[in-house]
Amino acid sequence: MKRLNLEISLETVILFDLTLSFLAVLGLVFLIYGLITGHKWISYAMLACECILLYAIFVAPKRITISKYKEALTKYPKHWIRVVLIADIHANKKTDQARVDKIAERAKGLNPDVLLLGGDFVLWNSEDVAWLKPISQIKAAGKYFVLGNHDYLDDPQKISDQLKEWGLVNITNTGLSFRHEGAELRIYGLDDTQMGLSILPSADAQLILAHSPDSALCLKEGSGLVLCGHTHGGQIRLPLFGCISIPSKLGRRADQGTKIIDGVKLLISRGLGVVGPPVRLLCPPEILFLEIGLD
Ligand SMILES: [Fe+2]
Repeated sequence: MKRLNLEISLETVILFDLTLSFLAVLGLVFLIYGLITGHKWISYAMLACECILLYAIFVAPKRITISKYKEALTKYPKHWIRVVLIADIHANKKTDQARVDKIAERAKGLNPDVLLLGGDFVLWNSEDVAWLKPISQIKAAGKYFVLGNHDYLDDPQKISDQLKEWGLVNITNTGLSFRHEGAELRIYGLDDTQMGLSILPSADAQLILAHSPDSALCLKEGSGLVLCGHTHGGQIRLPLFGCISIPSKLGRRADQGTKIIDGVKLLISRGLGVVGPPVRLLCPPEILFLEIGLD
Protein backbone atom coordinates (compact mmCIF):
# COMPACT_ATOMS: atom_id res chain seq x y z
CA MET A 1 0.00 0.00 0.00
CA LYS A 2 1.17 3.50 -0.85
CA ARG A 3 2.39 5.56 2.09
CA LEU A 4 0.65 8.91 2.21
CA ASN A 5 2.20 12.16 3.26
CA LEU A 6 3.11 12.13 6.93
CA GLU A 7 2.01 14.74 9.42
CA ILE A 8 5.64 14.97 10.58
CA SER A 9 8.25 13.57 8.21
CA LEU A 10 11.22 11.38 9.06
CA GLU A 11 13.47 14.27 8.04
CA THR A 12 11.78 16.48 10.63
CA VAL A 13 12.33 13.86 13.33
CA ILE A 14 16.01 13.50 12.38
CA LEU A 15 16.41 17.27 12.31
CA PHE A 16 14.83 17.49 15.75
CA ASP A 17 17.07 14.73 17.15
CA LEU A 18 20.14 16.50 15.75
CA THR A 19 19.00 19.84 17.21
CA LEU A 20 18.35 18.19 20.57
CA SER A 21 21.80 16.57 20.55
CA PHE A 22 23.39 19.88 19.55
CA LEU A 23 21.62 21.69 22.39
CA ALA A 24 22.68 19.01 24.87
CA VAL A 25 26.34 19.30 23.78
CA LEU A 26 26.15 23.11 23.76
CA GLY A 27 24.72 23.02 27.27
CA LEU A 28 27.59 20.82 28.42
CA VAL A 29 30.17 23.14 26.82
CA PHE A 30 28.65 26.16 28.63
CA LEU A 31 28.50 24.18 31.83
CA ILE A 32 32.23 23.40 31.64
CA TYR A 33 33.01 26.95 30.47
CA GLY A 34 31.16 28.35 33.48
CA LEU A 35 33.08 26.09 35.84
CA ILE A 36 36.48 26.95 34.31
CA THR A 37 35.92 30.73 34.18
CA GLY A 38 34.26 30.88 37.59
CA HIS A 39 30.89 32.07 36.18
CA LYS A 40 28.98 29.57 38.23
CA TRP A 41 25.55 31.00 37.30
CA ILE A 42 26.18 29.88 33.71
CA SER A 43 26.96 26.38 34.94
CA TYR A 44 23.88 26.26 37.15
CA ALA A 45 21.61 27.52 34.37
CA MET A 46 23.02 25.01 31.90
CA LEU A 47 22.80 22.18 34.41
CA ALA A 48 19.12 23.01 34.96
CA CYS A 49 18.50 23.02 31.17
CA GLU A 50 20.26 19.66 30.77
CA CYS A 51 18.19 18.17 33.60
CA ILE A 52 14.91 19.43 32.07
CA LEU A 53 15.93 18.03 28.69
CA LEU A 54 16.77 14.60 30.13
CA TYR A 55 13.53 14.58 32.15
CA ALA A 56 11.45 15.50 29.07
CA ILE A 57 13.05 12.70 27.04
CA PHE A 58 13.45 9.83 29.48
CA VAL A 59 11.03 10.34 32.38
CA ALA A 60 8.01 12.47 31.44
CA PRO A 61 6.74 10.38 28.47
CA LYS A 62 6.50 7.35 30.79
CA ARG A 63 4.55 8.99 33.64
CA ILE A 64 1.05 7.72 32.91
CA THR A 65 -1.70 9.74 34.58
CA ILE A 66 -5.41 9.04 34.98
CA SER A 67 -7.82 11.97 34.66
CA LYS A 68 -11.28 11.38 36.07
CA TYR A 69 -14.48 13.13 35.00
CA LYS A 70 -18.15 12.75 35.83
CA GLU A 71 -21.02 13.86 33.61
CA ALA A 72 -24.73 13.36 34.30
CA LEU A 73 -26.80 13.23 31.12
CA THR A 74 -30.00 13.41 33.11
CA LYS A 75 -31.11 15.47 36.09
CA TYR A 76 -31.48 12.56 38.50
CA PRO A 77 -29.20 9.77 37.27
CA LYS A 78 -30.03 6.29 38.53
CA HIS A 79 -27.16 4.50 36.79
CA TRP A 80 -23.55 5.38 36.20
CA ILE A 81 -21.59 3.87 33.30
CA ARG A 82 -17.82 3.81 33.61
CA VAL A 83 -15.99 4.73 30.42
CA VAL A 84 -12.25 4.58 29.80
CA LEU A 85 -10.66 6.31 26.81
CA ILE A 86 -7.22 5.30 25.58
CA ALA A 87 -5.87 7.24 22.61
CA ASP A 88 -2.72 7.92 20.61
CA ILE A 89 -0.43 5.13 21.75
CA HIS A 90 1.51 5.44 18.47
CA ALA A 91 3.16 2.01 18.64
CA ASN A 92 6.35 1.77 16.62
CA LYS A 93 9.58 -0.18 16.35
CA LYS A 94 10.90 1.39 19.56
CA THR A 95 7.76 0.68 21.60
CA ASP A 96 8.44 -0.59 25.09
CA GLN A 97 6.16 -3.59 25.77
CA ALA A 98 6.43 -2.99 29.52
CA ARG A 99 4.92 0.48 29.02
CA VAL A 100 1.99 -0.93 27.02
CA ASP A 101 1.47 -3.51 29.78
CA LYS A 102 1.47 -0.70 32.33
CA ILE A 103 -1.16 1.27 30.37
CA ALA A 104 -3.35 -1.86 30.19
CA GLU A 105 -2.84 -2.55 33.89
CA ARG A 106 -3.80 1.00 34.90
CA ALA A 107 -6.91 0.91 32.69
CA LYS A 108 -7.94 -2.52 34.04
CA GLY A 109 -7.79 -1.07 37.55
CA LEU A 110 -10.56 1.37 36.61
CA ASN A 111 -13.02 -1.50 35.93
CA PRO A 112 -14.56 0.09 32.85
CA ASP A 113 -17.97 -0.89 31.52
CA VAL A 114 -17.01 0.65 28.19
CA LEU A 115 -13.50 0.77 26.75
CA LEU A 116 -13.05 3.32 23.97
CA LEU A 117 -9.95 3.43 21.82
CA GLY A 118 -9.58 6.75 20.02
CA GLY A 119 -7.15 5.84 17.26
CA ASP A 120 -3.54 6.53 16.32
CA PHE A 121 -2.70 3.01 17.42
CA VAL A 122 0.54 3.14 15.41
CA LEU A 123 3.03 5.79 14.43
CA TRP A 124 3.58 4.81 10.79
CA ASN A 125 3.54 1.06 10.20
CA SER A 126 0.33 -0.92 10.57
CA GLU A 127 2.19 -4.08 11.67
CA ASP A 128 3.14 -2.30 14.91
CA VAL A 129 -0.45 -2.74 16.11
CA ALA A 130 0.82 -6.13 17.35
CA TRP A 131 2.28 -4.33 20.38
CA LEU A 132 -1.21 -3.48 21.58
CA LYS A 133 -2.59 -6.92 22.43
CA PRO A 134 -2.57 -6.17 26.22
CA ILE A 135 -4.87 -3.18 25.55
CA SER A 136 -7.38 -5.47 23.86
CA GLN A 137 -7.36 -7.71 26.95
CA ILE A 138 -8.74 -5.00 29.24
CA LYS A 139 -12.06 -6.36 30.51
CA ALA A 140 -15.16 -4.34 29.62
CA ALA A 141 -18.72 -5.15 28.56
CA GLY A 142 -18.27 -3.00 25.44
CA LYS A 143 -14.97 -2.39 23.62
CA TYR A 144 -15.08 0.00 20.67
CA PHE A 145 -12.60 1.83 18.46
CA VAL A 146 -12.14 4.31 15.64
CA LEU A 147 -8.96 4.89 13.65
CA GLY A 148 -6.78 8.01 13.76
CA ASN A 149 -4.90 9.82 10.98
CA HIS A 150 -1.67 7.88 11.64
CA ASP A 151 -3.52 4.57 11.25
CA TYR A 152 -4.30 5.57 7.66
CA LEU A 153 -0.65 6.12 6.70
CA ASP A 154 0.11 2.50 5.91
CA ASP A 155 -2.66 -0.13 5.96
CA PRO A 156 -5.74 0.86 8.00
CA GLN A 157 -7.55 -2.36 7.12
CA LYS A 158 -4.77 -4.41 8.71
CA ILE A 159 -5.07 -2.45 11.95
CA SER A 160 -8.84 -2.71 11.97
CA ASP A 161 -8.76 -6.47 11.24
CA GLN A 162 -6.27 -7.13 14.01
CA LEU A 163 -8.30 -5.18 16.57
CA LYS A 164 -11.48 -6.97 15.50
CA GLU A 165 -9.72 -10.33 15.82
CA TRP A 166 -8.91 -9.38 19.42
CA GLY A 167 -12.61 -8.75 20.10
CA LEU A 168 -12.85 -4.99 19.66
CA VAL A 169 -15.65 -3.44 17.59
CA ASN A 170 -15.00 -0.85 14.91
CA ILE A 171 -17.73 1.80 15.28
CA THR A 172 -16.50 4.17 12.57
CA ASN A 173 -19.58 6.01 11.25
CA THR A 174 -21.78 3.63 13.22
CA GLY A 175 -24.07 4.07 16.18
CA LEU A 176 -25.04 1.52 18.82
CA SER A 177 -26.97 1.24 22.05
CA PHE A 178 -24.84 0.05 24.91
CA ARG A 179 -27.07 -1.51 27.56
CA HIS A 180 -25.69 -2.24 30.98
CA GLU A 181 -27.45 -3.00 34.27
CA GLY A 182 -30.69 -1.34 33.21
CA ALA A 183 -29.05 1.72 31.64
CA GLU A 184 -28.73 2.57 27.96
CA LEU A 185 -26.00 4.72 26.43
CA ARG A 186 -26.16 5.64 22.75
CA ILE A 187 -22.61 5.71 21.36
CA TYR A 188 -21.49 6.82 17.90
CA GLY A 189 -18.04 6.59 16.29
CA LEU A 190 -16.80 9.23 13.84
CA ASP A 191 -14.18 8.66 11.17
CA ASP A 192 -11.01 10.76 11.25
CA THR A 193 -11.50 14.26 9.87
CA GLN A 194 -8.12 14.39 8.10
CA MET A 195 -7.89 10.98 6.47
CA GLY A 196 -11.34 9.45 6.62
CA LEU A 197 -14.85 10.28 5.56
CA SER A 198 -17.12 11.24 8.43
CA ILE A 199 -20.82 10.43 8.32
CA LEU A 200 -22.55 12.48 10.97
CA PRO A 201 -24.47 10.83 13.81
CA SER A 202 -28.20 11.06 14.29
CA ALA A 203 -29.42 13.59 16.82
CA ASP A 204 -29.89 11.04 19.62
CA ALA A 205 -26.19 10.10 20.01
CA GLN A 206 -25.14 10.73 23.62
CA LEU A 207 -21.46 9.89 23.41
CA ILE A 208 -19.38 10.39 20.26
CA LEU A 209 -16.00 8.74 19.91
CA ALA A 210 -13.77 10.68 17.50
CA HIS A 211 -10.06 10.84 16.90
CA SER A 212 -9.59 14.59 16.63
CA PRO A 213 -11.33 17.56 18.24
CA ASP A 214 -11.70 18.92 14.70
CA SER A 215 -14.75 16.65 14.48
CA ALA A 216 -16.57 19.32 16.49
CA LEU A 217 -16.43 21.56 13.43
CA CYS A 218 -18.74 19.27 11.49
CA LEU A 219 -21.16 18.55 14.34
CA LYS A 220 -24.31 20.47 15.18
CA GLU A 221 -24.63 22.50 18.35
CA GLY A 222 -25.85 20.32 21.22
CA SER A 223 -24.56 17.06 19.70
CA GLY A 224 -23.53 14.34 22.14
CA LEU A 225 -20.40 14.62 24.26
CA VAL A 226 -17.33 14.09 22.06
CA LEU A 227 -14.46 12.03 23.46
CA CYS A 228 -11.26 12.39 21.46
CA GLY A 229 -7.47 12.63 21.50
CA HIS A 230 -5.01 13.49 18.70
CA THR A 231 -3.61 16.71 20.22
CA HIS A 232 -1.30 15.09 22.82
CA GLY A 233 -2.01 18.28 24.79
CA GLY A 234 0.73 19.83 22.66
CA GLN A 235 3.35 17.47 24.17
CA ILE A 236 5.46 20.45 25.32
CA ARG A 237 3.77 22.98 27.60
CA LEU A 238 5.28 26.04 29.22
CA PRO A 239 4.32 27.37 32.65
CA LEU A 240 1.62 30.09 32.46
CA PHE A 241 1.63 29.88 28.63
CA GLY A 242 0.43 26.33 27.97
CA CYS A 243 1.04 24.45 24.76
CA ILE A 244 3.18 25.89 22.00
CA SER A 245 1.20 24.45 19.10
CA ILE A 246 -1.62 21.99 18.48
CA PRO A 247 -2.16 19.87 15.33
CA SER A 248 -5.76 21.02 15.00
CA LYS A 249 -7.73 23.57 13.00
CA LEU A 250 -8.99 24.75 16.37
CA GLY A 251 -5.46 25.55 17.52
CA ARG A 252 -4.74 26.03 21.19
CA ARG A 253 -8.48 26.20 21.92
CA ALA A 254 -8.58 22.41 21.70
CA ASP A 255 -5.49 21.35 23.57
CA GLN A 256 -6.78 19.13 26.39
CA GLY A 257 -9.58 18.55 28.90
CA THR A 258 -13.15 19.79 28.66
CA LYS A 259 -13.97 22.35 25.97
CA ILE A 260 -17.06 23.73 24.28
CA ILE A 261 -16.52 24.50 20.60
CA ASP A 262 -19.45 26.04 18.70
CA GLY A 263 -21.88 24.55 21.21
CA VAL A 264 -20.32 21.08 21.04
CA LYS A 265 -18.97 19.68 24.29
CA LEU A 266 -15.62 17.88 24.08
CA LEU A 267 -13.41 15.91 26.40
CA ILE A 268 -9.92 15.82 24.89
CA SER A 269 -7.26 13.38 26.04
CA ARG A 270 -3.54 14.16 26.02
CA GLY A 271 -3.09 10.62 24.72
CA LEU A 272 -0.35 8.21 25.68
CA GLY A 273 2.35 8.37 23.03
CA VAL A 274 4.52 10.90 21.29
CA VAL A 275 4.86 12.07 17.69
CA GLY A 276 7.83 13.92 16.25
CA PRO A 277 9.98 15.09 19.13
CA PRO A 278 10.07 12.11 21.53
CA VAL A 279 9.49 14.39 24.51
CA ARG A 280 6.77 15.54 26.86
CA LEU A 281 7.05 18.48 29.19
CA LEU A 282 4.35 19.50 31.69
CA CYS A 283 2.06 17.31 29.61
CA PRO A 284 2.05 13.73 30.93
CA PRO A 285 0.46 10.82 29.07
CA GLU A 286 -3.16 10.37 30.07
CA ILE A 287 -5.87 7.72 30.40
CA LEU A 288 -9.31 9.33 30.58
CA PHE A 289 -11.93 7.96 32.92
CA LEU A 290 -15.48 9.22 32.66
CA GLU A 291 -18.53 8.26 34.66
CA ILE A 292 -21.73 8.96 32.77
CA GLY A 293 -24.97 9.32 34.71
CA LEU A 294 -28.12 7.99 33.02
CA ASP A 295 -31.79 7.23 33.78
FE1 LIG B 1 -3.70 11.88 15.40
